[in-house]
Amino acid sequence: MTEILDGRILSYKIRQQLKQRITRLQEHKVIPALAVVLVGSDNASQIYVRNKHRAAAEVGLTTHDFKLPETVTEEALLALIAKLNVDSSIHGILVQLPLPRQINAAKVTAAIDPAKDVDGFHPLNIGQLFLNNPQSLPCTPHGIMRLLAEHQIDVARKHAVIVGRSNIVGRPIAALLLNADATVTITHSKTVNLRELTRQADILIVATGRAEFIKRADVKPGVVVVDVGMNRDATGKLVGDVDFTEVAPVAAAITPVPGGVGPMTIAMLLEQTVKFAERQIGG
Ligand code: GUN
Repeated sequence: MTEILDGRILSYKIRQQLKQRITRLQEHKVIPALAVVLVGSDNASQIYVRNKHRAAAEVGLTTHDFKLPETVTEEALLALIAKLNVDSSIHGILVQLPLPRQINAAKVTAAIDPAKDVDGFHPLNIGQLFLNNPQSLPCTPHGIMRLLAEHQIDVARKHAVIVGRSNIVGRPIAALLLNADATVTITHSKTVNLRELTRQADILIVATGRAEFIKRADVKPGVVVVDVGMNRDATGKLVGDVDFTEVAPVAAAITPVPGGVGPMTIAMLLEQTVKFAERQIGG
């Protein structure tokens, strides 16, 4: 029987625990707060941000919304971040990506105080992750590791193959898997014979942004599959980067889309904000 790695169930459990931690913070007069900066009107970003707000409100976490026009200057965005960095009532800062072309995203990411960097995208936090001394972790990779741990899937000594090398998923999940003693292969759009490599995976992490890219013939029976994709197929149905109908029957375990990785990303964001707030009470 294929095990379904259900992110909704685990994220619910985590959010219940967070509620208690938030109540404790409030008893210490600390109101944990997350600043969410959204530039422009990218459709997917608006949906992500709305989901983050909803989940935060549900656990009692305060969010402060900063909506900036598509045409905002880099200077104005950096000025907002500088203000949020020194505001002691703000514990976490998130700038939704992607950013419009006139803005240098790397510069913006580096401007966020690493101690408020809930996304774990600051170069210092990424560096610490690769040195196996993690401080703040990127939410999606962190959520994947928690989901695997919840299902007692030990990655040590396993061959983990990653499809995709983005800064948000592919690169940081490679570091996390390596830190957990997996043998890691990163594949991407320029990889020769990519599907030969995916067939060797004990653990397959797919983050390509291409609907149902991985098929039955691309995996080894008994593989553990983590699907980070979120795409619409020709009929408008939400599908992952893995063809679930084909792959699930031969996998030992697989994440569904929706309801797999997505809810975990948000749970990790909330948890990181609470962790940063707990520093204020020495927790
Ligand atoms: N865009 C897509 N995923 C993410 C994420 O996890 N954080 C931010 N800030 N932007 C994103």
